[in-house]
Amino acid sequence: MPSVLLCNGCTPWQGLLLTASLVTFWHYPTTAEHVTIESVPPHVVEGENVLLLVQNLPENLATLVWSKGVKISNNVIGLYDLNKDVSAPGPLHSGRETVYSNGSLLLRNVTWKDTALYTLKCLNRHGDTASTTTIYLEVHSKYTHCGCPCSSAQPTIELVPPSIVEGESVLLVAHNLPENLRSFFWYKGGIVFKNFEIAQHIIATHSTLLGPVHNGRERVYSNGSLLLQNVTWNDIGFYTLRTLSRNMKSELVRVQLQLDSK
Ligand SMILES: *[C@@H]1O[C@H](CO)[C@@H](O)[C@H](O)[C@H]1NC(C)=O
Ligand SMILES: *[C@@H]1O[C@H](CO)[C@@H](O)[C@H](O)[C@H]1NC(C)=O
Ligand SMILES: *[C@@H]1O[C@H](CO)[C@@H](O)[C@H](O)[C@H]1NC(C)=O
Ligand SMILES: *[C@@H]1O[C@H](CO)[C@@H](O)[C@H](O)[C@H]1NC(C)=O
Repeated sequence: MPSVLLCNGCTPWQGLLLTASLVTFWHYPTTAEHVTIESVPPHVVEGENVLLLVQNLPENLATLVWSKGVKISNNVIGLYDLNKDVSAPGPLHSGRETVYSNGSLLLRNVTWKDTALYTLKCLNRHGDTASTTTIYLEVHSKYTHCGCPCSSAQPTIELVPPSIVEGESVLLVAHNLPENLRSFFWYKGGIVFKNFEIAQHIIATHSTLLGPVHNGRERVYSNGSLLLQNVTWNDIGFYTLRTLSRNMKSELVRVQLQLDSK
C-alpha cells in the first residue's frame, strides 16, 4: 500500500526520532542469479544498526566488495576474501561497518550522512565480476531540513488515487505549500540532488524546467502537484518535493510510491 511520509521527523508521533529507511534498489544481473539486498529492519532510527541483507549470491565466488556509491575505485568500505576467510576494511571504512562472509553488510549507529547508494560487487575466482547490486539507503534527519517545532501547516503529499497498478496514472497532490512560494522542485528518490531532479517550477514566470530524470511521463502543475502517467515498476520508490519560499526558506516532503500487483 502507498504510504505518505511527512516532512523529515516532523510528524508529532515521531517526536525527536530520526528515521532511516531503505528506499529502493536496482539490480544489474550479469548472471542467471538475481542477488537481492534488503534492509533489516526496513526503517531504522538514527543511532541504531541496519543490516543490508544479501541473498541469492552466485556460487564459486572469491571476493565480495562493498562500496559507497556505484563506482568501486576509491570508494570501498570493505571486502571479504572467501579464500582466506577474512574481511578487510577499505578507504571508506568508518569503523562502523562489517562485511560478512555471506555478503551482508552491517552498518552500526547510522546517521543521515550514511544516506547513499551502496554497491556490492561479487568477483569469481578468475577475478571477473559475477554480480553487481546497488541499494539506496536513505537516512532522514529532521535537524537538516525542518524548522521545528513544527507548525500544523507543514507541506504534505497525497497520492490520488491512493493505490494503483502498473500502467495507471497517479497524481502526487501537494497540500499546504508556503504562501510566499517562489519555486518548487520534484526529485526522484529521497535525496535532493540535481542529478535526480524531475522538474522545477518557477512561480513568478509560470515556467517549468525539466530535469535530468524527466522521462516524458511526468507533468508538473503550478499548484505543486506532480502527475505520473503510465506508471512502471521503475517508477516505484520515493519522490521528494522541495519548496523554496521568497525568503529562501526551503522545505522538503517525501512520498513513497508503490504499485499493487495486477
Ligand atoms: C549473514 O550473516 C549475518 C551475520 O551473521 C546474519 O545476520 C544474516 O542473517 C546472514 N544472512 C543470511 C542470508 O543468512
Ligand atoms: C553513535 O554516533 C554518535 C555520533 O554520530 C556518537 O555520539 C555516539 O557515541 C555513537 N554511539 C555508539 C554506540 O557508537
Ligand atoms: C500512456 O500509454 C498510452 C497507451 O499505451 C499511450 O497512448 C500514451 O501516449 C501514454 N502516455 C504517455 C504520457 O506516455
Ligand atoms: C493541482 O492541480 C491539479 C491539476 O489541475 C489538480 O488535479 C489538483 O487537485 C490540484 N491540487 C490542489 C491541491 O488543488
